[in-house]
Amino acid sequence: MALLEVSHLQTSFFTDAGEVKAVNDISFTLDRGKVLGIVGESGSGKSVTAYSIMQILAGTGKIIGGSVKLDGQELVGADEKVMKTVRGNKI
Ligand SMILES: Nc1ncnc2c1ncn2[C@@H]1O[C@H](COP(=O)(O)OP(=O)(O)OP(=O)(O)O)[C@@H](O)[C@H]1O
Ligand SMILES: [Mg+2]
Repeated sequence: MALLEVSHLQTSFFTDAGEVKAVNDISFTLDRGKVLGIVGESGSGKSVTAYSIMQILAGTGKIIGGSVKLDGQELVGADEKVMKTVRGNKI
């Protein structure tokens, strides 16, 4: 099992100007002990992908689909108490 499994992750910002689809269906896995680089043009969603994994999105940002599993544990929809044990410790 991969250490980190991101599947079909989708994140949007809901702004006064409408929905900004910042991350639109990204999937990747990261194995324990490996390093993964994500490349793409400016504005393609690299930073928001990372913020989504950590769940440190701005107030207007929301994960609207997909899954983030850390060591088999689903983080999308996990409560903040769980995220506090993950953020800064495991990730
Ligand atoms: N707080 C926000 N509100 C609305 N839209 C946002 C917000 N943060 C990011 N975005 C939008 O989400 C999209 C993805 O941005 P992101 O910062 O993830 O790009 P990036 O790939 O990290 O770019 P760069 O290479 O310049 O760092 C962009 O269209 C950006 O304008
Ligand atoms: Mg960035």
